Amino acid sequence: MTITGILQVTDSRTGRSYELPIIDGAIRAIDLRQIKVADDDFGLLSYDPALLNTASCRSAITFIDGEKGILRYRGYPIEELARRASFLDVAYLLLRGELPAKEESAAWAAEVTNHTYVHENVKKFIDGFHHDAHPMGILVSTIAALSTFYPEAKAVSDPAGQQEQVVRLIAKMPTLAAFAYRHAMGLPYAYPDDELSYAGNFLSMMWKMTEPRYRPDPVLEHALDTLFTLHADHEQNCSTSAMRVVGSSRADPYSAAAAAAAALYGPLHGGANEQVLRMLNQIGSVDNVPAYIERVKRGDVRLMGFGHRVYKNFDPRATIIKGIADEVFAVTGRNPLLDIALELERIALDDEYFVSHKLYPNVDFYSGIIYQAMGFPVAMFPVLFAIGRMPGWLAQWQEGAADPEQKISRPRQIYTGHGLRHLDGTAG
Ligand code: CMC
Repeated sequence: MTITGILQVTDSRTGRSYELPIIDGAIRAIDLRQIKVADDDFGLLSYDPALLNTASCRSAITFIDGEKGILRYRGYPIEELARRASFLDVAYLLLRGELPAKEESAAWAAEVTNHTYVHENVKKFIDGFHHDAHPMGILVSTIAALSTFYPEAKAVSDPAGQQEQVVRLIAKMPTLAAFAYRHAMGLPYAYPDDELSYAGNFLSMMWKMTEPRYRPDPVLEHALDTLFTLHADHEQNCSTSAMRVVGSSRADPYSAAAAAAAALYGPLHGGANEQVLRMLNQIGSVDNVPAYIERVKRGDVRLMGFGHRVYKNFDPRATIIKGIADEVFAVTGRNPLLDIALELERIALDDEYFVSHKLYPNVDFYSGIIYQAMGFPVAMFPVLFAIGRMPGWLAQWQEGAADPEQKISRPRQIYTGHGLRHLDGTAG
């Protein structure tokens, strides 16, 4: 940490000047506390609703340059990882800082494969959900419930224990996700197949019927693996922040990951891919696109799958996904919703409203169309996002737990309510 400059501020209330060190392009909010009007003054706070301009941690995991459309995991461009690394190797990279060597990769895959089964009781409480329960609701609940099977996970500072829970969570996510789907369909649960890849095993647990062994289509298996990689981490987004905040209370990682998955569920975050599909279905045909665009510009609706808090020129994940779509459609046949999506994108990218607001397709705009072509029901889309994001949540959780600067998360507020008043109607 080197001081690269000094911010000089003068408080107009007192005329006093202060020097605040600038470190890595930031001042420390706590340095503002010395700025007071009187000795008993609490000190100046920074006010930042939705943390638009606040760095909440130092992190060596993921780098994003939103203006240039750059995304890197541990320094590697997402484009290279998506093309050349498996999802499990990317998970290893996020968690341990380096890509695994060949033998390490095989050992890591074997370790994950070893933990794909869930306790039989998990099936019992999934059975308790209503037949039309949203699979994301089931997933959030079952991730949290796993903490009751592994009480040793409470020892969050124990590195060996941490490692064990990390492997379990990555390994069991596809199982919980597929079980949630099978429950909704009234199908018997299909158990993990240890001979298959991470993505292949998930496809098997989703679609296997009476055949002795499910053989995933290699193109779809690879496409899904790449989609998981594209979702694997995205620095301090809403769900990752939830993971870190809950983790900061030293809650076990299952509880923290359930909170992260709950944050992901929202339609402005990982639930957006589901909303994109609903929107495309609602638009119905290419002819209706201009009228829909007008509704968006009037502020009646949002164009789901467009816009991003960080990316302001393009989302590199969306570009890669568009390429995957062609490979998938060569196997599954073209999703007719693609024409509506392409027309939406064409008009929007040319329209003053979207250009001036810097709104571009994000990762969710095309992922849903691919998932649907692969046969996933719309409600499973955020679940797929959650499977991919788990390694990122865990890497960020571990980093937070090891960071000596971190404490329990506890923001301040600016109180806007009543002054002192009494039940007898008097004040002050
Ligand atoms: N459609 C229409 N207008 C939009 C949209 C959109 N999708 N997104 C932002 N705007 C407008 C918004 O109305 C506002 O306009 P004005 O300044 O005139 O009031 C301006 O752009 C800034 O919007 P904001 O809500 O302040 O921006 P934000 O950074 O808080 O929100 C966002 C980012 C992703 C939540 C938002 O763009 C959005 O709601 N997009 C649709 C949902 C979506 O696709 N989410 C997935 C994000 S990518 C996956 C992930 O990481 O979760």
